[in-house]
Amino acid sequence: MGKIKQIEAREILASGGAPTVEATVILESGVAGEASVSYGASAGSKEAVVLLDADSRRFKGKGMLRAVSHIKEKIAPAIIGMEGLKNIDQKMLELDGTHNKENLGANAILAVSMAYARAQAIENKQMLYEYLQDEFELPKSTKLPKPMVVMIEGGKHADNSTDLQEYLISALGNKGAAENVQMTMEIYEALKKILKSEGKSTNVGNEGAFAPNGIENNEKAMEYLVRAIENAGYQPGAEAGISLDAAASEFYNKETQKYHLKLENRDFSPEELIEYFAQWIGKYPFVSWEDMLSEYDWENWPRLVEKVEGKIKIIADDLTVTNTKLWQEAIEKKAATAILIKLNQAGTVSETIECCQLAIQEGLWTIPSHRGGGESNDTFLVDLAVAVGSEYIKVGPTRGERVAKYNRLMRIEEYLNPQSR
Ligand code: PGA
Ligand code: ZN
Repeated sequence: MGKIKQIEAREILASGGAPTVEATVILESGVAGEASVSYGASAGSKEAVVLLDADSRRFKGKGMLRAVSHIKEKIAPAIIGMEGLKNIDQKMLELDGTHNKENLGANAILAVSMAYARAQAIENKQMLYEYLQDEFELPKSTKLPKPMVVMIEGGKHADNSTDLQEYLISALGNKGAAENVQMTMEIYEALKKILKSEGKSTNVGNEGAFAPNGIENNEKAMEYLVRAIENAGYQPGAEAGISLDAAASEFYNKETQKYHLKLENRDFSPEELIEYFAQWIGKYPFVSWEDMLSEYDWENWPRLVEKVEGKIKIIADDLTVTNTKLWQEAIEKKAATAILIKLNQAGTVSETIECCQLAIQEGLWTIPSHRGGGESNDTFLVDLAVAVGSEYIKVGPTRGERVAKYNRLMRIEEYLNPQSR
């Protein structure tokens, strides 16, 4: 193992044009690991804290110089000379001393945690996922995650598009990673043609998915996806299916306990919303539904799970925010059957993997995911997915910070199977 000799940190830009944190961890051998952190636009309320400067003269208060200075002035002096990711994460947690990392900022802590992991992997001459498997004594799985690709986006990720935040294509079957990537991108191209032929805009939203201004209703997007799968020459339900992320906390009113869908011009009680969604089952080849109910509506999640049992995976994102305690609660209450994994929701690599380990124990899916607010070019989530044997990774189809993830996945496939190319 390598002891930390030096830590550097800086403010860089994330995909939305606002700052994020990048850290470089240098070991005594001189080996360096670098990592940058992403954050959400429709973040769950219980996520670890993204510490902003709140200085309105810079980036409208969204600067991250305070987080950067915490790395340099507080974290570095405490962990220089240390080794071992779990020890280092633990030390940073103690240094922060809060349950949600509001003191040092999860953006500061996570950048160091990820950069150390990467430095240590390089030092060991290992792929990052191999190092993570060793460090956390994970099964040596080499199963590659399948792409779950955002094709149409709305909600907080685009203007005047759907109320549901994401309509996704999820690869099915036994294709290799590169073939799966190819298939989903061909479906994306087919979708572009369909939207054009319908007179809809093919401008893209935060995650590089289409955001068709003036789309008629929330169901229409699914019709387009099925047609796109067929037009690209694939079989809906066998080779490619549909996933949804409603991000329902964004259209839930805590006072009235109702959901408002603008395109439907209607308020729904939780029971009505579940019935409304349930009508779509059987009509479309669903793989998974994420955050179809609000993070404030715990009691109705088990009802939804029961309703779709055995047919559709129910993914928790805002509900569980990559937090082992909340995930444990969701499992006990049978509120979800899969979990979306976002490193910055947890704030350290160790806690993120602990959360995944709980899913592994229970035989439930983990789905490492990009973020819609400020995504970085970092591809850590892909190695994380391979390390824990995830079923899918959720990433947008275009824009450099998104395709970087698919490119990393294809490189890992080539590494595992040099004959595949
Ligand atoms: P976010 O959206 O990163 O903006 O929170 C992605 C998601 O909800 O899955
Ligand atoms: Zn989500």
